[in-house]
Amino acid sequence: MKTLGLTFCIKIYFNHKGLPNKEYLRLILSSEYNRKHVDRFMGNNLMSQLANVKISLNDFQVRDGIYFPKDYEQLNSTEQKQRWDKIGKTYYGSQKIEEAAATAPIKQDYTLLTGKPGGTWSKFTVNQSVDSILEIGCGYGRIPLFLSKEKNLRCQKYYGVDISEPLLRRLLKCKQEYDFFPGAEFNIICDSAELLPLEDNSIDLAISNCVFMHIPDAQIRNLLVEISRVLKPGGIFVFNHSFHNKSCPSHIIHNFVRRLNIFKQNPVYLKQYSADEIKAMLTASGITAKCPQYTVEPTQEYAILPQKIKGIPVPFATQINNSIKPSDSRRETLAYGYSAYSNNC
Ligand SMILES: C[S@@+](CC[C@H](N)C(=O)[O-])C[C@H]1O[C@@H](n2cnc3c(N)ncnc32)[C@H](O)[C@@H]1O
Repeated sequence: MKTLGLTFCIKIYFNHKGLPNKEYLRLILSSEYNRKHVDRFMGNNLMSQLANVKISLNDFQVRDGIYFPKDYEQLNSTEQKQRWDKIGKTYYGSQKIEEAAATAPIKQDYTLLTGKPGGTWSKFTVNQSVDSILEIGCGYGRIPLFLSKEKNLRCQKYYGVDISEPLLRRLLKCKQEYDFFPGAEFNIICDSAELLPLEDNSIDLAISNCVFMHIPDAQIRNLLVEISRVLKPGGIFVFNHSFHNKSCPSHIIHNFVRRLNIFKQNPVYLKQYSADEIKAMLTASGITAKCPQYTVEPTQEYAILPQKIKGIPVPFATQINNSIKPSDSRRETLAYGYSAYSNNC
């Protein structure tokens, strides 16, 4: 299968002297394996061409109010997509609010469904009004629901990208139920976030919550370049709890266990980052040129022990992690992750 994938890339490379077409590129980009080998065997030539490729919503097909890529079958065959479709069916938020009685408390109080997101969201300025919002990994709409209801954020257009079809279907139900961003145009896109089907400099506010840490390093870097491309100069970005912290002991233990497992390793290795590496990525993507005033800060969740190792719960990990109250000088070491946001958020 892997050899086939690589042969396929080589064929594409030699068959397409000019810019390869979008469908082919989509296939290449959808596989971490292909990406790695395209890089290794063919240098940056093809990869640099990718930087010039743009897609638009016209390259998608709309079904049930969701934009799907035309090669959706290919996306469906990826491990990443299958994983998130499965999680999406059982995820928190999978309660069927539309089936609850009209008088049920959850109908009146959306936080019974979503909880209240904290971190950077608590700092978000109230009563803002923007033209367009892009959300990467929107899930079932927890963050837009919170921003609309609690922060009175208003927008004309909302673009939500997520790989999980069940979660996007749930988002549409939540929208129907709680009517967040009333009157806004909703564009819900089921795809792996990398090439964004949006115009240059078209987005006022780019947001993401707990998503980047689930995406491989090469894809994240491409995605950040795309976010930078579509963000308006002076626009706002909020990537709350988006990167895992490489010095957090819990991640170090995970990495160690992973290296011991020589027989079967998870093919998708998810990197962790230091604050400096995150700043370097934001700069390399061009985001900081568009939003020069920004902050990268450790999250307020700390961890010494992983919750699970190879699916096996670690005794007392939750209690021990919850009891950590680090001094300022230890926060960067013990924080589970990092958030990055522009200071005008
Ligand atoms: C931990 S959930 C967070 C969901 C939502 N942001 C929230 O806070 O409720 C991670 C989300 O990222 C999405 N996701 C994972 N990999 C993705 C990818 N490659 N492209 C787009 N979305 C992805 C998942 O489907 C899921 O909705």
